[in-house]
Amino acid sequence: MEQRLSEKTAIVTGAGQGIGKAVALRLTEEGANVVVADMNPKTAEQTADEIRVLNRRALACQIDIANIAEIQPMIDRAVAEFGRIDILVNAAGVAQTGPFLELTEQEWDRVVDTNLKGTTFIIQAVGRQMIKQVPEQVKSTGHANRSYGKIVNFSSISGRHGRAEQVPYAASKAGIISITQSAALAFAKYNINVNAVCPGVIPTPMWEQIDQDRGRISGLAPGESMKSFIERTALKRAGSPEEVAGVVAFLCSPDSDYMTGQTLNIDGGFEMN
Ligand SMILES: NC(=O)c1ccc[n+]([C@@H]2O[C@H](COP(=O)([O-])OP(=O)(O)OC[C@H]3O[C@@H](n4cnc5c(N)ncnc54)[C@H](O)[C@@H]3O)[C@@H](O)[C@H]2O)c1
Repeated sequence: MEQRLSEKTAIVTGAGQGIGKAVALRLTEEGANVVVADMNPKTAEQTADEIRVLNRRALACQIDIANIAEIQPMIDRAVAEFGRIDILVNAAGVAQTGPFLELTEQEWDRVVDTNLKGTTFIIQAVGRQMIKQVPEQVKSTGHANRSYGKIVNFSSISGRHGRAEQVPYAASKAGIISITQSAALAFAKYNINVNAVCPGVIPTPMWEQIDQDRGRISGLAPGESMKSFIERTALKRAGSPEEVAGVVAFLCSPDSDYMTGQTLNIDGGFEMN
C-alpha cells in the first residue's frame, strides 16, 4: 500500500473496535504510528498489538473522552512517546435509541458529553499541540502550500436529519458538522485541516445494539431494522468499517490538503447532500 502517512503520528479515539479500529489499522498500513485511545483498555491493547504485528509503533491509552480532565494526560503521553501529533481521528462515540417522550437527562448527558463535548475538547487540546509544531514562518504569514495537521471527526447520516428515536445522538452528530466547520475556520491560518465523515449503515457492535433497540421499540425481528435502512440506501447494501477507513485515510493524507470544513457522506447514497 502507498505510504502516504510515513513518519506521521495519529491519535485514533474509539480504536478498540468497530470503525475506529479499522481506521487505526488502515493508517498503520499507510505508514503511521498510532495512539489507540479507547475507554476499554483490553480492546485498546488488542488493536495496539495488531499494529505492532504490522511493524509500526502503537500506544494503547485508556480514556473516557467525556471526562475532559483525562484528555491532556493522554496527549502528554502521546507526545512523550512519539514527539508530535500529526493526525487526530475522533471515532469514539455512543448511541442511544428510545422514544423522544421517554428521553432522560442522564441519557442526553451521556451521549452529548461523549459525542460532542469530548470530541470538541480533544480537538482543542490536539489543536494546541499541532499549532506548537507549525513553523514560525507559516504562523506569521498564515500561508503554506501544505498541511500541518489533519483532524477528522465522526458525524453520521443521523447528523443530516432528525431521528425521532435517537434524539441526543442525532443532535450530537449534527453538532459535529458545526464543530468541524468552526475548528476548520479557527485552525485555517495554521494550515491545519479539519473535516468530518457521515457513515451510513456499517455493521459494528454499535449497529447491533441499535438494531436490537429499534426492533424492541417497533416490534421488528433482529436484523429487520438494519434491513429497512439498507433498503433506503442507493447501493442496497451495508458498508464495511474498511470502506469508511479508506475515506478517512484520504482525509488524513496529503491528497486532501486543499479540503477543510467539509463533511463527506460514506453511506452508499443514503443521503445525497
Ligand atoms: N456503525 C455505524 O453504522 C455508524 C454510522 C454512523 C456513524 N457512526 C459513528 O462512527 C463512530 C464509530 O462507530 P462504531 O460503529 O465503530 O461504534 P462501536 O460502538 O462499535 O465502537 C465505538 C468505540 O468507541 C469507544 N468509546 C465509546 N465511548 C467512549 C468514551 N467515552 N471514551 C473513549 N472511548 C469510547 C468504545 O469503547 C468502542 O471501542 C461513532 O462515532 C459512531 O457514532 C457509526
